[in-house]
Amino acid sequence: MSVVDLKRTKIAKILQANELDQEIIVKGWVRTKRGNKSVNFIALNDGSTIHNLQIVADPEVISDDILKKINTGASISVKGKVVASQGQGQRVEIIAQTIEILGTADPEKFPLQPKKHTLEFLREIAHLRARTSTFSAVFRIRHAMSFAVHQFFHQKGFFNIHAPIITGSDAEGAGEMFRVTVLDPINPPKNDKGEVDYKKDFFGKETNLTVSGQLEAELAALALSEVYTFGPTFRAENSNTSRHLAEFWMIEPEMAFYALEDNMDLAEELLQYLVNYALTNCGDDLEFLNQRGLEEDKNKKQEERNELSLVERLRFVTENKFIRINYTEAIEILKNSAYNKKKKFNYPIEAWGTDLQSEHERYLVEKHFKKPVILTDYPKEIKAFYMRQNEDGKTVRAMDILFPGIGEIVGGSQREERHDKLVQRMAEMKIDEEELWWYLETRKYGTVPHSGFGLGFERLMLFVTGMGNIRDVIPFPRTPDNAAF
Ligand code: 4AD
Ligand code: MG
Repeated sequence: MSVVDLKRTKIAKILQANELDQEIIVKGWVRTKRGNKSVNFIALNDGSTIHNLQIVADPEVISDDILKKINTGASISVKGKVVASQGQGQRVEIIAQTIEILGTADPEKFPLQPKKHTLEFLREIAHLRARTSTFSAVFRIRHAMSFAVHQFFHQKGFFNIHAPIITGSDAEGAGEMFRVTVLDPINPPKNDKGEVDYKKDFFGKETNLTVSGQLEAELAALALSEVYTFGPTFRAENSNTSRHLAEFWMIEPEMAFYALEDNMDLAEELLQYLVNYALTNCGDDLEFLNQRGLEEDKNKKQEERNELSLVERLRFVTENKFIRINYTEAIEILKNSAYNKKKKFNYPIEAWGTDLQSEHERYLVEKHFKKPVILTDYPKEIKAFYMRQNEDGKTVRAMDILFPGIGEIVGGSQREERHDKLVQRMAEMKIDEEELWWYLETRKYGTVPHSGFGLGFERLMLFVTGMGNIRDVIPFPRTPDNAAF
């Protein structure tokens, strides 16, 4: 088979096919140009692979006028011949016959110079950062992970459900929602009580961007048995951390007839599948990020360095069963830990019932068990209204999966399928029964035990790429005070 397309061949294909003497057209962006009076070497990248293609431009063939416009950042189209490379570092290169300049880039002004830039700086030029090796690798892996999610569920016979993005309900009951309105902010219509009259708003009621597709996924699961959503979710929580976004993507499977154990089995299988998919299909990009991680570690203090390299951390997840313990056991471990006694936690663990911070989650995973951990049966006070209540009256059938370097990557539960128990819990938590009348009806008509969970897609991406900040695994992050691009 020839690698030649009529119009243009992508660099990934040329390097993979490794076929000599073909005439091809390649198009891409110039990473670097070096050379002398008798020959020029252009490193060209088109985003199809982490690798650049070397273009050899002979000044006797390519005019000086063209050559001087070939600067870092410029876009070019090259017609030439694939030959075995004389130099080190690549097997094939292109001997250019003609080069067309598609777009110039002023070398004095182009922000992406061929040198190392900080991630902070690259965040400020997020419109260009995908042209770096690091970010193109991250975004290619992001695509692979998204594809693998759909493949995993499709192979299992799950159906993808598109949950609404604009909703009237607060699925998590945490009140961290972005309002959606078309009312005039200066002079909104008011009701008799002097409050803003949302009956006059677009939907005739108060609406928000969804925090989770779970409630709608539950409705679908109680008809189609096994479904999942994979969509954007929004949280107006003011957490300016390296693991929180105001807009993030979440994968939420929901399964009828699943108890919590089945739910945990599925989540573990999904995570192992995704990590394994990356190891099998994103080799070049992972190798690059692995190397990048090792370099970064060299500049860190001893205690902050990763014990394992990125690829080792990924293998570690695919090769180890996750530890499963309940919240009460975890609290005992944390309370009695030398860490807690020496007051090394910012939030000391004193009593049963406290919510776990990511420092506690990471302690369990990284220091105590040295394996991913699934924590179950949390106190009902720190979990959402929909979780199935245990016989003890104190805990619910929750499960959180904790990962090294990340903390919580998955949150889920068995759902409360008993109508009376659900109504009673909603009353205790002051959740309006009328708002969720449709949700409650599924417990009245043919209710069944069911379970589900949410996997934060960017948290997964943090783990798979080894990047340290969640702003660097989504193309255009939304965080407090930042909605640029
Ligand atoms: O634990 P959470 O809040 O659970 C839910 O939303 C449930 N409705 C899921 C379900 O059972 N269907 O969120 C689930 C996951 C977290 O474990 C975390 O990975 C991610 O979503 N997540 C965030 N990721 C980035 N930025 C944020 N602000 C996040 N909040 C949650
Ligand atoms: Mg959670």
